[in-house]
Formats: sequence, structure tokens, C-alpha cells
Amino acid sequence: MKRRSFLKTTAVTSAGLMVIPSGKVFGANEKLNIALIGAWGRARAHHGFIKKENCVAICDINDKNMEQAAKAFPNAKKYHDWRKCLDQKDIDSVVCCTLDHTHAFVANWALNRDYHIYCEKPLANSVEEARVVRANYLKRKDKVATQVGTQRHAISNFQRVKELVRDGAIGELKVAWAWGNRQLRRPGYLKGEGEPPAHIKYDLWIGPSPMHPYNPKYFSGRPGANCLNWNMYWDFGTGQVGDMGSHTMDLAWNALDADLPISAEADPKSDKFNPEVSPVGMHTSWEIPKNDWRPQVNLHWYQGGMMPNSPTKWVDLKKIGHGAMFKGSEGFIIADFGARLISPYGKVADMTYYKPRPKDQLIPPLGSFQGQWVNAAKGDKKTTCNFDYNGKMMETMMLGLVAYRVGPGKKISYDGATGKSGDDKANADLLMKRKYREGWKLDG
Ligand SMILES: NC(=O)c1ccc[n+]([C@@H]2O[C@H](COP(=O)([O-])OP(=O)(O)OC[C@H]3O[C@@H](n4cnc5c(N)ncnc54)[C@H](O)[C@@H]3O)[C@@H](O)[C@H]2O)c1
Repeated sequence: MKRRSFLKTTAVTSAGLMVIPSGKVFGANEKLNIALIGAWGRARAHHGFIKKENCVAICDINDKNMEQAAKAFPNAKKYHDWRKCLDQKDIDSVVCCTLDHTHAFVANWALNRDYHIYCEKPLANSVEEARVVRANYLKRKDKVATQVGTQRHAISNFQRVKELVRDGAIGELKVAWAWGNRQLRRPGYLKGEGEPPAHIKYDLWIGPSPMHPYNPKYFSGRPGANCLNWNMYWDFGTGQVGDMGSHTMDLAWNALDADLPISAEADPKSDKFNPEVSPVGMHTSWEIPKNDWRPQVNLHWYQGGMMPNSPTKWVDLKKIGHGAMFKGSEGFIIADFGARLISPYGKVADMTYYKPRPKDQLIPPLGSFQGQWVNAAKGDKKTTCNFDYNGKMMETMMLGLVAYRVGPGKKISYDGATGKSGDDKANADLLMKRKYREGWKLDG
């Protein structure tokens, strides 16, 4: 019997096997069989936890990087093409650390094979990609564990901010803002410079995106930060929206219990659209529908030096490189990844309306972020930054880019059920959907 079907179907309760609440069974000492796709760079941050499991395959388009990773995983089979890698029979889990424009592909193909998947942020580069991956995950959420690499979510401050907002420390929530101040200015795609060296499979690096000439600068960054050398270009990334936006918007999204927006809009003060490079300065906003504990709220994303106004002169928001702020009927909460402050305002904001949670009712610590995914894969499949939670957030962020491209200052409506806007220009092409190179399918 193949290992995967054993994991799925066996219902033995002998010593060494544990029955978990969902009724599924796994061996107490059983390890995941992981394929690591994009094996160097950011992947190095995951080598430690992958080493505790079985790494059965590594895939990289750069032979030098592959050799580095092979030192850590000498028994893993090696691949250049992730499509071939995913068909290796003994795989049950995938860790994906490739370029942004391939994340939704690898994620979706892995889901089609019922593999557990940990996918680096951002999950998607377009509204459609986020929707496809999320819908596929929802079909099999009881079978597979997914996690998007927004590991800051495990910092306890994320949960403390959520509790303050949820429990009414600033009264009834009205508005939320998140911002990031990383500024990478690029004039346009790099001009061709030489031929790709033999150790780089350049065509596979380009993957589903339109072809661009080779330039060594796309590959010259420090391992783990090389993404900054390509993520501003539309065909490879979405700039700060997918980059730090994935982490920082998570602070707000988590606190809001947000669902897909009903509208999106971009600020006319945003940078002018460049068809090759994503904007540095940009401000997008959405109307997020009400839920069972708060009214409809406006949510804002600012980047590249554009910032919300500080509620008080003595707090300089510009000193917070990546942060979030919440306005309620009684005051503000200002936070970054690790710290928070409450600023009540007005004569009635005496905070008597707010009762802090007793210690035993705090949201429990998440523990190891990657560990949560490993345990979920072997157990109840429940993770905090799964493809449903993060998929909705990225769909929203990508819709902000659609609004930006439709034309700053024009509010576009959105129907989360269909993924369509009431604005024809928004539905036409833009970032709702990307055009892929022949031979590349999102669903395979
Ligand atoms: N969660 C975080 O805090 C964090 C931090 C840094 C980077 N990241 C994310 O990690 C990803 C990778 O970033 P990076 O800086 O390591 O990039 P990188 O350019 O160094 O690429 C990572 C690795 O993937 C390989 N690769 C590229 N395309 C591939 C393909 N199609 N198939 C197989 N291998 C491929 C590269 O050769 C390299 O070894 C990005 O999406 C980035 O957003 C996340």
C-alpha cells in the first residue's frame, strides 16, 4: 500500500498510532515526505524544520543553489522543473520558495495532488490566482494543511492587537490602516546583458510570465533577499503589495476578521502607472462588509512614503516603517509587528467601557509557525494562515492594484462571490487575470 493512501485510509489504534479529533490517523513517529521547490535563498530559513522531516525532492532552476541545498538534503532527488518534481510518487508535502509569479501555480498543482503545502508569501500575483488557489483549497481543506509564509503572524502582538480591537478597547471599529515604507525604485525591466550561464535554467525561471531578456542583476542579491532584485517588475511580482504588504496587512486583516471587499479605490496621489514596474508610492482602500461584531469599515493600504495622518502630534507614524492603525468610536490603536499603543480620545473615552480579557481567555500562542503547519499536516489540518484566510487577504490587495490601474480616484465595486467588478475596465484584463506564456497552466 502506498504511504499516502495508508495515511489517508488506515484506522488502526494500536500503540504508536494516535487518533486525532477529525478521525484521521497518523503514525506517532511518521515524517512528512517534503518536496522543497526553490531550494535556496528564502528556503534556507526553512531548512531547519524540513531536516526534521524527510526531504525527498529538491527543485531549483539554479544548479549552484541546488548544490548548496543538496548538502543539506543529500538523499533528495533533484529537479529543475517543479512540474516534473510534483509527480514524484512518494511526495506528500511541498514547501514552495520560488518567485512570486509561480507561487499560485505550484500551490494549485500541489493541491490538485492532495499535497500539504507551505507556500512563501505572496500566495498570488492577481485576483484570479488568489481565487483559484483558495477555491481549490476549500474543496480539500479537511485533507490538506496549507500555510502562507507570513511567519510574523506567530508574534504574540498580532493576537494582542486582535483582542484589543475585538474587545472594544477603542469602542466600535470605524477604519483600519496598514502601511509599509520600503522603497525600491526601478526604471523598467533590465536590459539584456549576456547569455544565461549554463547553471541557470532561464526559461524555467521566466516560467509562465512573458519572456524578458536575461540580466545577471536579477540573480545578484543576497540569499534570502534576492527577491528585492525582481519583485518590483509586474511580470515577476507586485512590488510592496505582495512583499511587505503580505506581512503588514496581516496585522490589520487578522484584527478585522475581514471578508472580501465590496469596493476598491486608489488615491490619485499614488505614483503614475508604469507598465513595467509596480508603483513605489501608492494608497489603496476598500470597503469591508460588516460582520457579526463590527460595522462595515474602510480599510487602507499605504506604501512607499504615503502615510495615514497621525491621530496625535506626538506620535510620528513615519517612524513606524511597517505598521497598522485602527480607529474606533473611542480612540486609536497604533501597532507595528512587535508593539502596540492605545490612544483614547474625547471626553468620554475613559476606558471604563473596556474590560481586558483574563489571562486564560487570551488567544493561545501559535508557537512555531512552520511547526503549526507540520503538526496540522499530520493532524487536524488547521493552520492560522491557510489559503482561505490569506487567499481572501491577497485577493483584496490585488483588487487594490486593479483599482489603481483602472484609474486612481475611481471607486470600483466588487462582488466577492463572482470575482467580478461592476466596472468593465476592471474586469477587462489588468490584474484581475494574468496572461501566461504558452505551455503554462495554472491548473495542472
Ligand atoms: N516570509 C518571509 O519573510 C520572506 C523573506 C524573504 C523572501 N520571501 C519570499 O520567498 C520567495 C523567494 O525569495 P528569494 O529572495 O529567496 O528569491 P530567489 O530569487 O533567491 O529565489 C529563491 C530560490 O528559488 C530558485 N528558483 C527561482 N525560480 C524557480 C523555479 N521556477 N523553480 C525552482 N526554483 C526556482 C532560485 O534559484 C533560488 O534558489 C519570494 O516569493 C519572497 O517573497 C519571504
